Amino acid sequence: MNIDKLYLRSLGAAVGLAVMLAVFGFLSPVYAQMTEEQLAKIPGGDQPIKFSHKVHAGDNEIPCQYCHIYARRSQVSGAPPMQICMGCHKLIATNLSEVKKLAKFWEDKKPIPWVKIHDVPDFVRFIHQKHINARNEVYPKGLACQTCHGPIQEMHVVKKFNPSFGDMGWCLECHLTIPGALERKRAMAVGPDSKTLKNMLRPSGEYRPNLTDCMTCHK
Ligand code: HEC
Ligand code: HEC
Ligand code: HEC
Ligand code: HEC
Ligand code: HEC
Repeated sequence: MNIDKLYLRSLGAAVGLAVMLAVFGFLSPVYAQMTEEQLAKIPGGDQPIKFSHKVHAGDNEIPCQYCHIYARRSQVSGAPPMQICMGCHKLIATNLSEVKKLAKFWEDKKPIPWVKIHDVPDFVRFIHQKHINARNEVYPKGLACQTCHGPIQEMHVVKKFNPSFGDMGWCLECHLTIPGALERKRAMAVGPDSKTLKNMLRPSGEYRPNLTDCMTCHK
């Protein structure tokens, strides 16, 4: 089922309920089985609401981009809009204390002050969209979230999977595996020959972005 399309349709108020019932049906094997005792066993970390990726993206298989709607469309993935949470939680698990906290933020029209885990300094240019939509010989379908963030769907509390995450060396280590990156780097030093020129192009004929140049990542 294409849950993304379902959500778009749910924006139309008339079909909203029908769509909710479809989502509800889809989740029914797990829905409403959690007790307050089970909830208490889920670690919550420092987050204002005990939100578990394992429960949502793992056990209930909700696709990452169903919630992180900005990841493929813009520079930042950002926290999911609260409407998306409430799309389910107006009906689902409404008696759990942590879901009540969510409903309270919603009623008070206050944003949830999520604690940010992954961060690079402001002088670094990192664009999610370009990575998720990247198509090349190494990543023919673009980069999966897990390539960089690790198995988030298995985590109750999100943490940095790779301790080097966000370091300059971490970025470059991957960038240097992209076809054309090394050749292009060398060509900058000694001047291009015909082979390096060829490697600087994608099979489609466009120039590859220069993945090792300082100005690519620094503003
Ligand atoms: C597609 C439906 C869906 C969406 C969207 C959704 N949830 Fe849930 N959520 C569930 C289900 C199913 C459970 C498990 C309920 C149970 O087993 O009783 C759950 C459980 C929870 C719980 C209790 C257990 C846990 O995971 O910690 C919290 C808190 C929660 N959700 C918060 C949120 C927040 C915040 C958002 C928005 C960022 C959100 N949910 C979006 C379906 C959804
Ligand atoms: C039900 C909605 C929902 C789904 C599905 C979901 N997320 Fe999240 N995600 C959130 C919320 C809410 C936060 C902020 C709270 C937190 O950090 O747990 C978050 C935080 C994150 C963060 C940390 C952001 C930071 O502060 O650095 C990453 C990385 C992330 N999600 C990746 C993923 C990936 C990868 C998937 C799919 C495997 C996924 N998410 C599925 C709601 C969701
Ligand atoms: C190429 C590596 C890479 C991939 C692939 C990737 N991310 Fe990220 N992610 C990062 C980096 C680096 C940051 C820190 C960005 C910043 O601070 O500006 C980040 C930050 C985040 C955040 C925190 C909020 C923000 O945007 O800064 C969320 C949420 C997130 N990623 C979710 C996702 C999801 C969902 C996917 C898949 C659809 C994904 N990421 C794919 C590297 C990646
Ligand atoms: C796991 C691999 C991987 C990691 C880690 C990674 N990147 Fe990338 N990056 C890519 C790929 C693939 C592309 C797209 C290449 C293409 O379009 O041919 C890319 C492209 C870019 C671009 C060029 C976008 C454009 O088209 O103009 C920038 C800027 C960038 N990355 C910054 C970063 C920064 C900053 C980090 C570290 C915080 C990082 N990347 C980490 C794989 C990665
Ligand atoms: C693929 C992306 C990428 C490229 C290319 C890149 N950098 Fe960086 N650079 C980063 C990231 C990410 C950080 C932040 C690391 C951190 O937080 O420790 C950084 C940090 C730095 C810092 C440290 C700043 C500080 O105050 O801590 C300097 C200096 C720097 N880069 C210079 C360069 C120079 C010079 C080049 C070209 C030879 C270059 N960078 C190319 C991603 C990149």
